[in-house]
This record gives sequence, C-alpha cells and structure tokens, in this order.
Amino acid sequence: MNTLFLDAAWSKQTERPPVWMMRQAGRFMPEYWEIKNKYSFLEMCKTPEIAADVTMLPVDLLGIDAAILFCDILVTAEAMGGDLSFTQGVGPRFANPVRNMQDVENLNVDCLDQLEYVADAIKVIQQRLNGSIPLIGFAGAPFTVMSYLVEGESSKDFKKTKLMMHNHPEVAHALLAKIAKVTADYLNLQIAAGVNAIQIFDSWAMALSWNDYAEFSHRYIKEIIANLNRKDIPVISFCKGSSVFAPMMATAQPDVISVDWNADLLNIKQILPSGIAVQGNLDPFILYADKAVIKKTILQLFERMRGENGFIFNLGHGIMPDIPFDNVKYAIEVIKEFRY
Ligand code: CP3
Repeated sequence: MNTLFLDAAWSKQTERPPVWMMRQAGRFMPEYWEIKNKYSFLEMCKTPEIAADVTMLPVDLLGIDAAILFCDILVTAEAMGGDLSFTQGVGPRFANPVRNMQDVENLNVDCLDQLEYVADAIKVIQQRLNGSIPLIGFAGAPFTVMSYLVEGESSKDFKKTKLMMHNHPEVAHALLAKIAKVTADYLNLQIAAGVNAIQIFDSWAMALSWNDYAEFSHRYIKEIIANLNRKDIPVISFCKGSSVFAPMMATAQPDVISVDWNADLLNIKQILPSGIAVQGNLDPFILYADKAVIKKTILQLFERMRGENGFIFNLGHGIMPDIPFDNVKYAIEVIKEFRY
C-alpha cells in the first residue's frame, strides 16, 4: 500500500506531500460524463458497481494518493426522510423542507438500513483498490446538511437557516442533534465496511459568526468525532471558514484539519496543537491558469511547508466542473515530482 496519505495524516515524516483533491471524481473528467449520460447522479451513488467505477476514475487517470468514496453528503438527509433530487444546473433540492418542530419530529433517526448501499460500494471499491491506496469515507457536518434541509435548495445567504437558529433555537438544535446521531452511525457503518480515513465536510460554516459556529456547528462535529469507532482511522475536519475556525476545530480532536485557501497554511499549522496535520490549501481557481502559474503556486506552497510533517496537499475547496482535465493532471505531476 502507498502509505503517504495515512503517514501524513498521522503527522509522520513523508518523502513528499501526498495528494488528493476534493471532487476529484466529477464533471471535469470526460470519462465521468460517459457514465453520467447514462444514469442519474443518485443512481450512480446507489449502484455499488457504478459508484466504484467513478471512484476509480481519478485513481486510474490521475494517480492520486488516496481515493474518496463516490457519494454525496445529502444521502443521510434523504435516509432521514428528505425528498431529495439533483437537477443539472440547479443542484440539490428537498421537496419537503424542514421548517418547524413537527417537520423535525417527522425525521427518522433509525435509518441506517437505507444506507446499506454505501457499505456495499465501499466493499466493491476496496476490492478494486486491492490495497494500492487508502479509501476516504465521508459525511456532511450537521450544520451544512441542516442548511440544505431547511432552505430546501442551495442558498447564498442561509437566511431561513439563520432565522430558525435565532428565532427558534430549540427547533434548530433538535434538528442538528438528529442529524449528528445519524451521521455518527453512518460514519461507523463506513468504518465497519472498510474505509481507511474519514472526512467531515462543513462546506458552509464560513457563513457563521464565531459564536454561532461554536453553538450550531462545532459542538455537533465534536460529538460525532467522539462517537466514532476510530481504531486506526484518521479523521479529517474540513470547513470553508477554517482560516478563522481552525483553533476551535482542533478542540474536537480531529487528526487533520483541511484548510480553505484564505490562510497561510504554515501559520495555521503553527497555531494548532502538535499532532494535528493540515490539508490544503491551493485556491482551486489556480487550476484554470497557465501551467507555469500552476507550477509556481504549488511550489511556493511546498517551499513554505518544507520540513513540516503532517501536510496533505489538497485544494481549499472542490474542483470546479469546467477546470481543464489536463491542468489537474499537470498539477498532480508537479506535486509527485517534488521531494522535501
Ligand atoms: O470529492 C469527490 O470526488 C467525492 C464525491 C462527492 C460529491 N459530493 C459528488 C457530487 C463529495 C465528497 C461530495 C460532497 C458534497 N456534496 C458537499 C461537500 C463538499 C463541497 O464541495 O463543499 C456538498 C456541499 C454537496 C452537496 C452537493 N452535491 C451540491 C451543492 C451539488 C450540486 C452542485 C454541484 O457541484 O453540482 C451536488 C452534486 C454532486 N455531488 C455532483 C457530484 C459529482 C454533481 C452531480 C452531477 O454530475 O450532476
């Protein structure tokens, strides 16, 4: 097994930073479209052989150091009773948004049986990987999942979610507690099925103030991490907003903090307790630029991190669908040639 990713996650010395990229299996790949043209996104997630085919695309075509399960953060909310659909160009939608205590009470927390397809996909993927590289499992953080359930769709300002938090905090907390319970169970299902690491995605935390992040996001992430059957499974905590929230995120005791692109990565590492690795933090928009710019920017980051143990290369957020495939491939070549 290529252990670069796990070694870096445990803050051990590596000869170069390992690389994987959020949204590494997606629409920027022509091979993804060949599959996507035949099935809906949820069909792809729910059919283990297809989920495995898509998971393997960046393994085979890009040579990354870790694979990530092909699925979505909103499948937990669907299993709880959310009427989820994905529409091209629109994104996720819940036809029955959660707006009051009655809606929260209607959500089911004993719903792991509806997520068995994820366990099945993990088993097929591990057979395909055959020990070559580690597999990352994942879930959404309760606040980010809540925002979709409450808004019913993607939102720019999270107005309905914030109104619920501020005017009806008991409803917001009842909802977050239910999501947190399902998320911990779901991640333990992934661990039992054989993932080698876990990432928790809190994509929209940057919309929150420091106090609201503490009350409505962080405390539930902390609860989830505390409830994981972790054994030797590193936990990565990602949020947009980590440039600000990293010191608080660290108190949930993840093994790795995945940093957005606003911060200087070394500065973040230096304010964290030793033993917490960092992952990040190239601005994904760099991958639209000329190859010379891509190379220069990656090497700048690496020079800054030279001599640090516990650094996993990633983007500050996911790859956009129209980034040229060739640029992503080139970035990975540059990264894999580098030596500390
Ligand atoms: O990283 C990977 O390659 C693994 C697969 C993965 C997907 N979604 C596949 C996907 C992962 C880890 C996610 C997580 C996810 N999903 C997040 C957190 C990460 C992040 O980017 O912030 C969020 C917020 C979602 C919710 C979601 N799913 C949105 C907002 C959308 C629509 C917007 C968009 O980017 O299209 C999705 C759909 C989605 N999830 C697609 C993929 C490949 C596109 C589906 C398609 O092909 O139509």
